[in-house]
Amino acid sequence: MGTKKRRKLIAGNWKMNKTPSQTKVFVEELNRRLEGVRGCDTVICVPFVDIPAAVRTAKARCITVGAQNMHHEPSGAYTGEISSQMLQDLGVKYVIVGHSERRRDFGETDVIVNKKLRAALGGNMIPILCVGESIEQRERGVTEELICLQIKEALSGVEARQVRRIVIAYEPIWAIGTGMTATVEDAREVCALIRAQIRRVFGAAAARSVRILYGGSMNAKNAKGLLACPDIDGGLIGGASLSADEFITIIEEAVQAGGDDEKPVPVE
Ligand code: PGA
Repeated sequence: MGTKKRRKLIAGNWKMNKTPSQTKVFVEELNRRLEGVRGCDTVICVPFVDIPAAVRTAKARCITVGAQNMHHEPSGAYTGEISSQMLQDLGVKYVIVGHSERRRDFGETDVIVNKKLRAALGGNMIPILCVGESIEQRERGVTEELICLQIKEALSGVEARQVRRIVIAYEPIWAIGTGMTATVEDAREVCALIRAQIRRVFGAAAARSVRILYGGSMNAKNAKGLLACPDIDGGLIGGASLSADEFITIIEEAVQAGGDDEKPVPVE
């Protein structure tokens, strides 16, 4: 039985920040300072145009490059869009799917999120699926119901063996970019709920393997408490991932919180 702990994962979401030249300088610093780091996977989800610079520059073993979005179709008449095949060809391994800013500002529905997630899996990428409630939904007491629904819809048609490869980020919308973090207890409770939901639908093995992150104003100061929770396997970091000092401190906290030496779940 799987007594091993899941390896911690710290993913930076740069959003629309940094040019390719700035990316090169930033990743060079990460290389220098993260060279010996073991026991925590680090992903930087950079803007599309920064991907080549990030992939070319990333040398430290623990750093992997991710994208922030992709289209679900492999190719075709979709002006301005990027497919999983294009990302993979550049050496991208992870892709954020269903971020609340995409849902809110670009009209991404649960149906679209599901299509993207399945396309990412089909393209051998690791989707980082974002779910989370608004402040109104939290106040109305529908957080649990909403998160379960988002997960159900996003994972519709996905097989249990594929769920092992997925990363789920719990990101309460009211905590994103606001400086308001969920309390450790609230974050822990929802992450545990997500794992329980995965267990119900996909079984115990999938629930044991799936990595669940917390996102929403995680920073160098509050990371330790959040990362100490057994059901929180890492963080999806926006603002604080733009500063090398902050980001590296969070990674160090993740290493301290003790991931393990289990290999990342292989991409099938
Ligand atoms: P934040 O962003 O850390 O700036 O709150 C998190 C996210 O949007 O993924």
